[in-house]
Amino acid sequence: MASMTHTATCLPTPEGALVRSSQRVLITGAASGIGRAGAHLFAERGANVILLDRDPGGEEVAAKIRAAGGCATFLPCDVSDERQVAEAFAAADGSGQPLTGLWSNAGVAHFQSLAETSLEAWNAIIATNLTGAFLVTRTALPVLADGASILYTGSISSVRAAANFGPYCASKGGLLMLAKSMAIELAPRRIRVNVIAPGAVDTPMQHADMMSRPVSYNQAVAEEIAAHPLGRYASPEEVAESAYFLMSERASFTTGTILMVDGGFSA
Ligand SMILES: NC(=O)c1ccc[n+]([C@@H]2O[C@H](COP(=O)([O-])OP(=O)(O)OC[C@H]3O[C@@H](n4cnc5c(N)ncnc54)[C@H](O)[C@@H]3O)[C@@H](O)[C@H]2O)c1
Repeated sequence: MASMTHTATCLPTPEGALVRSSQRVLITGAASGIGRAGAHLFAERGANVILLDRDPGGEEVAAKIRAAGGCATFLPCDVSDERQVAEAFAAADGSGQPLTGLWSNAGVAHFQSLAETSLEAWNAIIATNLTGAFLVTRTALPVLADGASILYTGSISSVRAAANFGPYCASKGGLLMLAKSMAIELAPRRIRVNVIAPGAVDTPMQHADMMSRPVSYNQAVAEEIAAHPLGRYASPEEVAESAYFLMSERASFTTGTILMVDGGFSA
């Protein structure tokens, strides 16, 4: 576990931003895809972002944010590892300021029939997608400000089943109920807990998923897009915007719920 290596002075909040520059938002899975887009968005709007990922490429994301004048710290961390999560939070705690936002976004997917799914594969998906959210939430609780916001990246698989995605559906469905339970538990501290549920998003995970299908890549993509009434993938930036809304004060009476960002997939 590397310790915190870079910090930067936060810029004044841009005019009209929803997030105050005093805000500190921790995002997991921030080296790629949706989490990376979210890191840039929150930083552009004045938040001090703390980025966790098991991929050391997260440092490049933080460096880009700092180069643009934002405030970002990358901490390498496998969110399924209790010790690494504890160490990352200890390293992130340097400023003594509470966290105002926690976005548990790290996730992995695996396309396979349940009959073929090994215990190892099952455990790997549950460990990152569900146990990881539990670990970062529990570890964050003492350092979350009252009135803070927690967000989990679920999926359409939080509410709609698909064949060959048993562990993924179980993990993402579990996240929704974890969020609902936490929303009630943390309401006395005015901490809101919600889930964002993307459909197909143009990220490395989505491309890897399409590659793993038993049909050609092009056919898999065409079928995937056809399942979304808006007829395309979401961009990571679009999903990040919805995440930003849910975590902002604009969603101040919204807790324990799920926001579908799925181009009409579940309509
Ligand atoms: N891309 C989609 O179509 C889609 C749809 C619905 C939900 N999601 C969810 O969105 C989230 C982000 O996915 P993405 O599409 O941006 O994928 P991505 O692969 O681009 O990014 C996922 C990031 O999570 C990190 N990560 C994975 N396991 C980790 C672990 N144990 N500890 C720390 N970091 C870990 C990866 O290194 C990567 O940087 C995931 O939870 C995924 O399930 C994605």
